[in-house]
Amino acid sequence: MVSFHILTLFPEMVMQGLHTSILGRAADRGDISIEAVNIRDFTTDKHGKVDDYTYGGGAGMLMQAQPVYEACQSVIDRIGQNKARRVIYVTPQGKPFHQEMAKELSGEEELIFLCGHYEGIDERVLEEIVTDEISLGDYVLTGGELAAMVMVDAIARLVPGVLHNGQSAETESFGDGLLEYPQYSRPEIWHGKRVPEILLSGDHAKVDAWRLAQALARTKERRPDLYEKYMEAHPPVEKKRRK
Ligand code: ADE
Repeated sequence: MVSFHILTLFPEMVMQGLHTSILGRAADRGDISIEAVNIRDFTTDKHGKVDDYTYGGGAGMLMQAQPVYEACQSVIDRIGQNKARRVIYVTPQGKPFHQEMAKELSGEEELIFLCGHYEGIDERVLEEIVTDEISLGDYVLTGGELAAMVMVDAIARLVPGVLHNGQSAETESFGDGLLEYPQYSRPEIWHGKRVPEILLSGDHAKVDAWRLAQALARTKERRPDLYEKYMEAHPPVEKKRRK
C-alpha cells in the first residue's frame, strides 16, 4: 500500500487524471490512495495569492515559501510526524526519472509530490522539505502536475495488487532491460499481413525464443544504449570449441 499526496494548485486535474481506469479501481480497492492537496488553501494572504515577483528581477512569478510549507506540513501532521516519507519536487532540474526509480519508490509508504508553477518555487522551502528532485525529461512543462501524474502512474502500477496480473509488470519493456517484442491478436490476417507463423505453433519454447530474439533486435535497433547494458549483464555464452 502506497499513499500518494500531491501538493498542487490544480487538484481537479490531478484527481481526474489519476482516479480513472486501473489506478481508480486500485484506489477504490484500497491498494493505493491518492489525494490532491490544494496549496492555495494554505496561503495566509487575504486575496488567496500564492506567488510573487522574484528578488533580483527577471520575468515571471515565483511560488512563495509559506503556502507550500504549510500544505506539506498539513500532510505530515496527518500521516504522523515520525512516519517515513519522501517529498518529491518534480522539476526539470531533478534526476531523470526511470523504471528503476519507479520500482524503488513503489516500496515506500508515503510519497508527497510537490508540483511547481510559474517560474518555480522559493528555494528556501525546497531546502526545508524536499528529499528528492526528479525530472520527467529534458523539456519544460507549464507545471509539475503532468510530470507528477506520470510518475505516480509508473510507481502505482508496481505496487502489489494494482495490476492483477503480476507477470505483466515483469515481462514488459524495461522489466528485464529490453524493449518489448511485437504482439498480435485476432484476426490472423489483417490488411494482408499475417501473424508470424511461430506464434500459432503452440510450441511455447519456440515462441519464447522468438520473442527474446525480437526483443533483442528491437532494442539493438531503437535503443542501442539499453542493448549495450543488457549485453554487459547477459554476456553470450561461449560455445565450447571442439578439439
Ligand atoms: N515541471 C516542468 N517541467 C518538468 C519536467 N520536465 N519534469 C518534471 N517537472 C517539470
